Amino acid sequence: MNAEALGNVQVNWPDGERMSLPILWLRDVCPCEACRIAQTQEKRFHLATLETVSIETLGVSDEALWVAWTGGHSSQYPRSFLAKDHARVMPQWQPWSDDYTPAYFDFQAFQANDRMALLAIEEFLRSGVLILSNAPTEEATLELLAKRLGPIREVLFERIHNVKVDPRGYNVAHTNLGLPPHNDFASYSWPPSVQALHMLANEASGGRSTIFDGWALLEEFRSAEPEAFDVLCRVEVPFREFDESNETYACEPIIRLNTKGEIVIFRYSNQLMQVMNPADPDTAVFYDAYYKLSRRLFSSDKVRRFRLEGGQILIVASHRVLHGREVIDDAGYRHLQDAYFEHDNVRNMLTVLARSHD
Ligand SMILES: [Fe+2]
Ligand SMILES: [Zn+2]
Repeated sequence: MNAEALGNVQVNWPDGERMSLPILWLRDVCPCEACRIAQTQEKRFHLATLETVSIETLGVSDEALWVAWTGGHSSQYPRSFLAKDHARVMPQWQPWSDDYTPAYFDFQAFQANDRMALLAIEEFLRSGVLILSNAPTEEATLELLAKRLGPIREVLFERIHNVKVDPRGYNVAHTNLGLPPHNDFASYSWPPSVQALHMLANEASGGRSTIFDGWALLEEFRSAEPEAFDVLCRVEVPFREFDESNETYACEPIIRLNTKGEIVIFRYSNQLMQVMNPADPDTAVFYDAYYKLSRRLFSSDKVRRFRLEGGQILIVASHRVLHGREVIDDAGYRHLQDAYFEHDNVRNMLTVLARSHD
């Protein structure tokens, strides 16, 4: 038998309903104890162990299907199992509404109370933003968030980054200059997907924090400028962040889509972008699109500005939400630490919390 052309089997239920089931799928998902590891619920049977796959006999009752496979194995499938959509419903992001403001949650409640953590993480997955208040102002407090956000995603440079005005700093964040909207570590092919910014002390005036709903802006851009949008999905741009002992470099498009055409990464960092090759015809094409997008970003209403006080932690879904900072006016003491996490771990924490809450 040709395994590429097995096709489907038709099942006629006694009540008249019909199902068309792919034969290889049916063999692959056999729920019996020989085909599954009961302890872990993982699949144990492997299709590749069969030279051929074919059905000898098929039996149907009101609520189950039996299959006797050529070669000896037999399978029993509950009807509900066959009818079910097995895909997990993933929480969906929502663009910020006109009156959106970031949600504040109490740090201790977020850490200690599963119900509160569930609400906060749901809010984070919708809006891409969370602010925790009343957090300790000790250094490395961000380590404690691993309980809720999963392990810290380390990158080169420090595990917990210190942001102070520092004449030896390796990044524009260490000056008192304003920071235009960006996300960190565009110089990694997979940049950190969650960033937590912990203000330990803020006695400086100015330096308000800014956040931007990057994906909402890109969706508007896709509608208004579809060709320019496509260019930004296609042309690779070099990004680099480095100091004397560290080097990070990646060449990637500004927008990455998944196979459904949905935006998964918005990579935007004026400060880390490197010089592109002017002899490459794509460079001019890219710059036209990039200029259009950047003008939109700078005049967008998808920005929120607020002062991050000592003891507050701003958490952003950093493949979506860009952050920035206004100019720091005076030299009052200001100390920020940031660390990175991964969105997958935060998203899946919902399942764990829902389980413990039930
Ligand atoms: Fe940053
Ligand atoms: Zn089986």
